[in-house]
Amino acid sequence: MEFTDAELMCELLPTRPQPGIGKVLVTGATGYIGGQLVPTLISRGYSVRIMVRAPAPELENRWKKVEIVVADALNPAQLEAAMEGVDTAYYLIHSLLMGPSKLERVEIETAKNFRIAAERKAVRRIIYLGGLGDEQGDYSPHLRSRMAVANELRQGRTPVTVLRAAIIIGAGSASYEILHHLVRKLPVIPIFRWAKTKCQPISIHDVILLLVGVLETPETTGGSFDVGGPDILSYEEMIQSMAAIQGRKRWLPPLPALPVKFTSYVISLLTPVPHAITWCLMEGVFNEVVCRNNAIRELIPFTPMTYKNAVLMAMTREEQDRVHTRWSDAYPPAWELAIKLHELKTPPRYGARYSLATRQSPAALFDSICRIGGEEGWFHSNWLWRLRGLLDRILMGVGSSRGRRHQTELRLNDVIDFWRVEALKPDAMLLLRAEMKLPGQAWLRFTIEPGGAVNTLGVQAYFNTESLWGKLYWYACLPFHHFIFTDLIRQIEKRSSA
Ligand SMILES: NC(=O)c1ccc[n+]([C@@H]2O[C@H](COP(=O)([O-])OP(=O)(O)OC[C@H]3O[C@@H](n4cnc5c(N)ncnc54)[C@H](OP(=O)(O)O)[C@@H]3O)[C@@H](O)[C@H]2O)c1
Repeated sequence: MEFTDAELMCELLPTRPQPGIGKVLVTGATGYIGGQLVPTLISRGYSVRIMVRAPAPELENRWKKVEIVVADALNPAQLEAAMEGVDTAYYLIHSLLMGPSKLERVEIETAKNFRIAAERKAVRRIIYLGGLGDEQGDYSPHLRSRMAVANELRQGRTPVTVLRAAIIIGAGSASYEILHHLVRKLPVIPIFRWAKTKCQPISIHDVILLLVGVLETPETTGGSFDVGGPDILSYEEMIQSMAAIQGRKRWLPPLPALPVKFTSYVISLLTPVPHAITWCLMEGVFNEVVCRNNAIRELIPFTPMTYKNAVLMAMTREEQDRVHTRWSDAYPPAWELAIKLHELKTPPRYGARYSLATRQSPAALFDSICRIGGEEGWFHSNWLWRLRGLLDRILMGVGSSRGRRHQTELRLNDVIDFWRVEALKPDAMLLLRAEMKLPGQAWLRFTIEPGGAVNTLGVQAYFNTESLWGKLYWYACLPFHHFIFTDLIRQIEKRSSA
């Protein structure tokens, strides 16, 4: 799905592309913000290099004109190679899924490596999008880590432009999805004391404009700027406004506060956003996050979008199925969850295959396979998939309510409930890697083998484990697998004829 001209967001930008700017490095390009910044920079004519942690052939297809380097910011040598010949580097690296306890330490190390590599490779400028907040305040680990990253980057000789934003509202942003789902699902929303805290949300549209705008405004080099929309709202007001936009009557009774960890856990059960993220975000709800300096408005003047319009735009994008990036795009931090099937030293020990012969064409079957999960569900035995998702959520896993970015289109690394797309070959194969809590690693491969008039549609479950618990888990699930997967391929076939 290509970005349309309107989605490229530059129509309001008062600045002009600067032909003198050399190679622009975008880190965090697989993330929510980076994934929208890259096409906008390309459309402005910049030469863009993206840095990703894992080889990502799908990104070559998504952005034909970008150069891709593989580097982990925790690896200084890789980082230096990524910065070779770079003029300006965007720092959009973030590790929210790590949870508050590890976040600060890892983020400071990443920022330090980045600063040193930028100096060694004589990068002219760094641009960093961080979080709003007063330096002296008593801040949550998440907000503290955002400020610490800014301070760490500024220690070096490379000038750093810092943009500081509070919550970002847009289709696919975690904050938007939390608010949206709470209002949609709860007729009664308890209002705790923290819901009175003031916040200055900004639309994703304006964030991208500003990230490009500072690149094209040399006066912003080395400066720190608070960025926000025109509305200063409490969380309660944001909920009320969201309810009005959705046309729902919601009762918001005041209640005494409950522990943040518990509240964030309940919120994670009610929304697609996993606990590691809701916890990090909730810890910051006691901190007022409002712009203290508005200098950016003079330097890059345009009319920012109201909270209401940002929500309306996000809802429209969802309805039109035009969500380009989502908080779930970034990999989970548990590295074993990112090991690919073909990277295993020995093939998985356990497997089960189910297949059927069909006269449906490979294209129709593949189209039908690509619609599994999300709003459509798993075509049959949905309650079993949901139960597995709920169990995962209770165990603080990702759960099945992450849904999907797009209802019919799939690309590599897309999330489908508790799976992630690991490989796909149009009209032939889809390989999903499990990201739910498991005593091992699991994959699900759909295959279509052409056979002239009659084709074979198959699904194969793979499970890799060494532990006794893992083996017990596999054998306990086998009877359900038989029931679920034979039904699933039958349903896929049935729908492909529709
Ligand atoms: N989203 C918001 O609502 C919001 C609000 C205010 C400020 N911000 C700021 O905007 C910035 C970007 O946020 P985001 O929402 O786009 O984050 P995100 O969706 O979580 O993406 C984070 C990116 O960081 C990359 N990354 C993590 N660890 C890395 C490492 N060690 N080496 C290289 N890359 C690494 C991830 O790559 P993988 O794909 O490999 O995991 C991913 O591309 C952050 O600084 C955040 O504080 C965001």
